[in-house]
Amino acid sequence: KRIGLLFGGRSAEHEVSRMSAANILRALDPDRYDVVPIGIGRDGRWVLCDGGNGAGRGARSLDIPDGAPPVALLPGGGGEMIVLAATSGPEAIRLDAVVPVLHGPNGEDGTIQGLLELANIPYVGSGVMGSAAGMDKDIAKRLLRDAGLPVVPFLTLTAGRRADYRTASEALGTPDLFVKPANMGSSVGVSRAGSAAEFDRASEVAFRYDGKVLVERSVTGAREIECSVLEDAAGEVRASPLGEIVPATSHGFYSYDAKYVDADGALLRIPADLAPDLARRIQDLAVETFRVLNCEGMARVDFFVDPAQEQSLYVNEVNTLPGFTAISMYPKLWEAGGLSQEKLMDVLIEHAIA
Ligand code: DAL
Ligand code: MG
Repeated sequence: KRIGLLFGGRSAEHEVSRMSAANILRALDPDRYDVVPIGIGRDGRWVLCDGGNGAGRGARSLDIPDGAPPVALLPGGGGEMIVLAATSGPEAIRLDAVVPVLHGPNGEDGTIQGLLELANIPYVGSGVMGSAAGMDKDIAKRLLRDAGLPVVPFLTLTAGRRADYRTASEALGTPDLFVKPANMGSSVGVSRAGSAAEFDRASEVAFRYDGKVLVERSVTGAREIECSVLEDAAGEVRASPLGEIVPATSHGFYSYDAKYVDADGALLRIPADLAPDLARRIQDLAVETFRVLNCEGMARVDFFVDPAQEQSLYVNEVNTLPGFTAISMYPKLWEAGGLSQEKLMDVLIEHAIA
């Protein structure tokens, strides 16, 4: 099968995407998949990267060559993309499926999924609605709350609807807040705020990434538990064993640096040490979250467990294109569940094509 591997992108998670794509390329069996890597530069240029299988295998991160001529990919509507290159005439590439390994806005939010729908090319993961609903933390939390699932109390700010620290902390009942852009991943633009000065600074940073910002109550001392969800070609949805993130105390929370910059920034504990009935409850909630948000194929659902409140549980967020880097939970949890990354890719591609 011929598989388009889309990676890079204009989002702040560009680097993470290139690392995820390197791991996915390695997990696609070259005897069965002919991979066409398509890189999207930080500036938004689309580039056909070396299509020869083996390109980038073993690399930590896939490259997007600087000097390569940009191409335009137009949806042909019949299962192909029409490649327009400045240097040659239009050419059609037929793709059996696309793996959009793009994290964050313009990749995880339904935009690429819309393009692939128009092209009539099957793709891995959620469709337009599930991607859009999962990407926007404000929308996702409203839908989950409406379905009766536990979410951490929050306020939504926009340019026209600001709040100061006092109002926000009074409304949320705590001086300890988190401020996050609504549409972003990998904790980019997320800060903790425990004073008016920190809050102003945190809002300014978050608004740099999005016109909509969430202020959440910090769940003090919460444990961070993650669950991978996978849907097979028959539509059966399964939850993986659970993992726990233990950020190094120097980082305070599971920030971008703790994830990708500092090799010792966080420890992953797989399986998480939890009582079996609590673990079961989290796995059920992960599948319910997947369904409520219209997810398809895969998602990683992240939770907070508050040990102070008799193990109170909250759904923190859903990631419809979870990281696939060497340190990423999504594939690691499936490995712990007995599914190698090679098999995982097979299931995802079979689900896309079914
Ligand atoms: N947004 C990053 C890639 C993750 O959730 O793993
Ligand atoms: Mg995320």
